[in-house]
Amino acid sequence: MITRRAAVLGAGAVLSAPAFLRRADAQGMMHDGMGGGGMGGMSDTEPVALQSDQPFRPLPEINARGGTLALRAMAGETRFGAGVATPTMGFEEAYLGPTVRMRRGTIVNAAVTNGTEIPVSTHWHGLNVPSDADGGAPQSVIRPGAVWRARLPIEQPAATLWYHTHVHGRTAPDLWSGLAGALILEDDENDALGLPSTPGLDDLVVILQDKKIDGEDQAVYDPDMMTIMHGYLGDIVLANGQYAPVAEVPTGPVRLRFINASTSAQHTISFPCPTKLIGVDQGLLPRPVEIADVTIAPGERVEVVVDMRGGGTVPISVAASLMGGMMIGMMGSDGVRHTLMSLAGNVDLPARGRVPDRLTDDPDQLPATVIERAFVLQENMGPMQHMRAMMGNGPVMAINDEPYDPDRISFTAKIGTVERWKITAEDMAHPFHAHGVKFRVPDPKRPEETDWKDVVVIDGTRDLLVAIKASSVKDVPFMFHCHILKHEDAGMMGQFLTA
Ligand code: C2O
Ligand code: CU
Ligand code: CU
Repeated sequence: MITRRAAVLGAGAVLSAPAFLRRADAQGMMHDGMGGGGMGGMSDTEPVALQSDQPFRPLPEINARGGTLALRAMAGETRFGAGVATPTMGFEEAYLGPTVRMRRGTIVNAAVTNGTEIPVSTHWHGLNVPSDADGGAPQSVIRPGAVWRARLPIEQPAATLWYHTHVHGRTAPDLWSGLAGALILEDDENDALGLPSTPGLDDLVVILQDKKIDGEDQAVYDPDMMTIMHGYLGDIVLANGQYAPVAEVPTGPVRLRFINASTSAQHTISFPCPTKLIGVDQGLLPRPVEIADVTIAPGERVEVVVDMRGGGTVPISVAASLMGGMMIGMMGSDGVRHTLMSLAGNVDLPARGRVPDRLTDDPDQLPATVIERAFVLQENMGPMQHMRAMMGNGPVMAINDEPYDPDRISFTAKIGTVERWKITAEDMAHPFHAHGVKFRVPDPKRPEETDWKDVVVIDGTRDLLVAIKASSVKDVPFMFHCHILKHEDAGMMGQFLTA
């Protein structure tokens, strides 16, 4: 039997202990019974005990292939540590939401009910649908008790997308609380590849969120000015709300779909056994790429296949850090590193999938771009910033000197064209994202940046080749913004239309 104390020293602690574990350690409460420091007597605060090595709980699945989807946003409570529960939110769940599966070539009629007491919305991140169905516009906010309906024509290739709340000014705390879930698009081409695709067995969705846990085992989110500027970084990174769980998997290929749902941390996920990157934000790569680790910024997704033919238990670690960037130097010392989850090979489970050498056709040559636009992401608005900060209203951030204004539409882009967007990050690296479009990075810095994306880390100036995909409905705009949620909430967001 695993005692609570031994569990603290389980797989989750093998690499380097997160800050709160060191705190517990300092209280002499951890090594008891493990040949270490011994019992330090009772202290007024119980050490925070996180139960690692619990069985991995796959998120529930909702099948929307038939064309309908009903979701309900709700408030609940979740016990992240062993002690007191933390107030959380989710869709259909107390924390996070079910994995929704949709199929290319269908139309899904979605109805989202707001069962909470706050305004929420449901933005389908990465899904190119008309602006009134996108969920990110101010017009799509769902009042408590109300129902929002969206008609979603699914016309793009298979991919791992996600859905989350997107109410301006409160996306950070509400998404942090759990208003997010996975959205998996399927298609015939993807099915024909024979990749591992049995949910909960060899195809696992892993939503990453970092949390700060206080002395009462409560997850806390109360960013101060510096945290708003540089980012929030928790003590631990949870996998679907679990701390270092163990997933029993077949001794064959295992597909993992990672979604970075953190407010501002980027995550480097490392694999100690042969692993292939097969997909990025908008779908599969042309060919799998052998990797030892992948890094995902807030909003980004990757699909990997871990080769578990060697059996045994394989720990997958995560290193979380703030975005950093050239302008403020590395922030590695602020990082947190521990086991994210482990895969335990079980020969009794059926090993079914394979990873072909060829996944998709090489991406089309991009047509020449005619329209160029330039965007400067600004964290510091000078005197205005300081005045607001002194008045206790928090910072004002902007794009091209304009903080977010729901009444301003910055431009209209032509559907079916490709534009060149020159994006500059002035102070630190920012993960840039836009709705209704997808983009290529002409200068990929890592395999995760090849092929079609919807979030790209901007450090200095980078060009994006932006394919304008979705149509907009009169006066309902698409958003473009930084996916560091406090930056977005502080005004680093703009609106555009398509025509
Ligand atoms: Cu992930 Cu505008 O959103
Ligand atoms: Cu989005
Ligand atoms: Cu930012």
